[in-house]
Amino acid sequence: MKICVFGASGYVGASVYDKLKQTESTVVGTYLNEPILFDDLYELDVNEPETFSNFFKSEKPDVVVWSVMSGPNEHKLTDQGLMHLLTHLTPQTKLIYISSDFVFSQGNGPYSEEDPLSHLPDDHSFSNYTNAKVKAEKLITKEFSNYVILRAGPIYGENAIGKLDERTDKLSYHLSSNQPIEYRDDLVRTFVHIDDLTNVIEEMVFNDVTGTYHVGPEHEQTLYRFMKVAAHKIGYDETLLSKSTTQEEVDAEIPKNTALKTDKIKTVTKQQFR
Ligand SMILES: NC(=O)c1ccc[n+]([C@@H]2O[C@H](COP(=O)([O-])OP(=O)(O)OC[C@H]3O[C@@H](n4cnc5c(N)ncnc54)[C@H](OP(=O)(O)O)[C@@H]3O)[C@@H](O)[C@H]2O)c1
Repeated sequence: MKICVFGASGYVGASVYDKLKQTESTVVGTYLNEPILFDDLYELDVNEPETFSNFFKSEKPDVVVWSVMSGPNEHKLTDQGLMHLLTHLTPQTKLIYISSDFVFSQGNGPYSEEDPLSHLPDDHSFSNYTNAKVKAEKLITKEFSNYVILRAGPIYGENAIGKLDERTDKLSYHLSSNQPIEYRDDLVRTFVHIDDLTNVIEEMVFNDVTGTYHVGPEHEQTLYRFMKVAAHKIGYDETLLSKSTTQEEVDAEIPKNTALKTDKIKTVTKQQFR
């Protein structure tokens, strides 16, 4: 079996690539910008139609893990990169697409897989990412059946090459220099550990499960509570953390509760979420 991980230099992609490399399958991965994290990755801009097509036709993967992300250019990644991919997939190729809890941008979770997705107004600071993810899911589910969409809330922990998620990294930077830091206690999320997500992706590569699943533990947490525990785990003084008092601008409000109901995934995976 041949597996292709697009975005193998990213936080999630690197863990997935590293894990799949330890199996007996042939695994290829792509990066866009240096540094090159693994010697054998291919440089590829998925938004370039010709190079994408040449790469895909020469590799002919049986399974694709799509782990690319580009915050401000997420729309381009869906309208161009993902569209290039979708035009090349055969019915036999399995697509594993990593989506986000932000497809539920109304923020009145917890949400189940069947709940309707929502858009943000174009001038909202998260609209590019959120609306691109919603569009991507709709494109995939409309055209294909051999797919797995995994919706994740914030992903945390050290990945396979020792990189921490950005939130914990920032926390560690502040606390190591004894600087106080504030977190919102009104943002509710389902936080998922990178190793748990990576294990699920590996299972999905090799099984014949398809459909849309929420990944993560049963419990949800506020950002403040989660970061407090994170500070304790990395051995810093958690008293430097406090609840944020910053007022949001009404038109730019961050979705409050995007927690995910995660019962469905338990029926198809042996993974126990921490
Ligand atoms: N991190 C989270 O908390 C979180 C939460 C929910 C869902 N997700 C989803 O998980 C997936 C992976 O996220 P991540 O945190 O691993 O992101 P990341 O660390 O930013 O990695 C993004 C990857 O995409 C690649 N990339 C960006 N633009 C590209 C292009 N035009 N052509 C080819 N490759 C391109 C990057 O390549 P270079 O590094 O070489 O530039 C990198 O490998 C995304 O779908 C994201 O929406 C993440």
